[in-house]
Amino acid sequence: MIKVAFYDAKAYDRPSFEHYGELNDIRFRFLETKLNEDTAELARGCDAVCVFVNDTVNAEVIDRLYEYGVKLIALRSAGYNNVDVPHAFGKIHVVHVPAYSPYAVAEHAIALLLTSVRRIHKAYNRTREFNFSLSGLTGFDFHGKTVGVVGTGKIGRIFIDICRGFGMNVIAYDLFPAKDSGIEYVPLDELLERSDIISLHCPLTDDTRHMINAEAIGKMKKGVVIVNTSRGGLIDAEALLEGIKARKIGAACLDVYEEEADVFFEDRSGHIMDDELLSRLISMPNVIVTSHQAFLTEEALNNIAETTVNNILSCFRNDGFCDNELCYRCGKIEECRKERKQECF
Ligand code: NAI
Repeated sequence: MIKVAFYDAKAYDRPSFEHYGELNDIRFRFLETKLNEDTAELARGCDAVCVFVNDTVNAEVIDRLYEYGVKLIALRSAGYNNVDVPHAFGKIHVVHVPAYSPYAVAEHAIALLLTSVRRIHKAYNRTREFNFSLSGLTGFDFHGKTVGVVGTGKIGRIFIDICRGFGMNVIAYDLFPAKDSGIEYVPLDELLERSDIISLHCPLTDDTRHMINAEAIGKMKKGVVIVNTSRGGLIDAEALLEGIKARKIGAACLDVYEEEADVFFEDRSGHIMDDELLSRLISMPNVIVTSHQAFLTEEALNNIAETTVNNILSCFRNDGFCDNELCYRCGKIEECRKERKQECF
């Protein structure tokens, strides 16, 4: 029996993980708390921890988990910017779920965009109160507009396909443009200048943190709509607020927020909101915030549980090789062990 401490567990996580766990002799210890320096101890006696996007997996936490005998950090997310991967090297293996439903995220980005541009959220509230006025609900056609996509990986490519279905002109920026994709790649500055809508689908790294800042916003068209379903840290939220106040930004659709860790995924309705920046953004008539829910479809939850269980089995059974293992050297050194179908250390 493989024992796994499952941090930041939500009711919607349990059915799929219990199902795949029981089938494969894995026992999940579901913990409502997030993983951090104070809660790492709850993993004592476990072989692995299973974590999500707002768990803290820094050097101190990794050292503690290592001391308690934990051998594996299984992320149930694609992004891993919350894990000090170089520090884990040689101590604890790290695995992730590279794709669970890129459709879920791309479709949510479109849902946010349509809601915002066609004022569906306002219309919904109005008609519930029998207010059938159309005043203030004017949107714009997607057809013929230019959408700039930053990051053309799994999610970005699906988002592009959907946008093309609307008859939009797509331009894109990626550090590693996809060859023979038929996508028109342009430099980032040109994308910022030409786009009516900008959607972010690249990972959060040292290079991409605050890529949407005051300077970038200064280059954008007046009335631009910004969509972020990727990671909050891609946008300098203070600069975004200033851009909205200056009427430069026409609308913002945010599924992620840089300081979301203490707020998102929880019911805070009975609390005073300490984060004034988030309060101010939410109070804006042209900002829609969802609480990191882009991934939340039945298909995605099932895929996350199945892949995570397979990752855990790969690491603890046979020779330990797992295709979804992460290490800071992967693909960057000649003698990369993963490319030889071996565990990273
Ligand atoms: P992916 O790895 O398939 O694609 C990412 C793309 O970004 C790649 O083409 C890569 O070359 C590009 N990229 C890397 N660095 C870049 C840079 N500095 N500038 C421009 N492009 C750069 O990842 P995928 O699956 O498409 O996911 C994208 C992001 O979506 C993830 O990193 C994650 O943060 C976020 N995400 C959000 C979810 C949510 O529920 N809101 C759920 C899943 C992922």
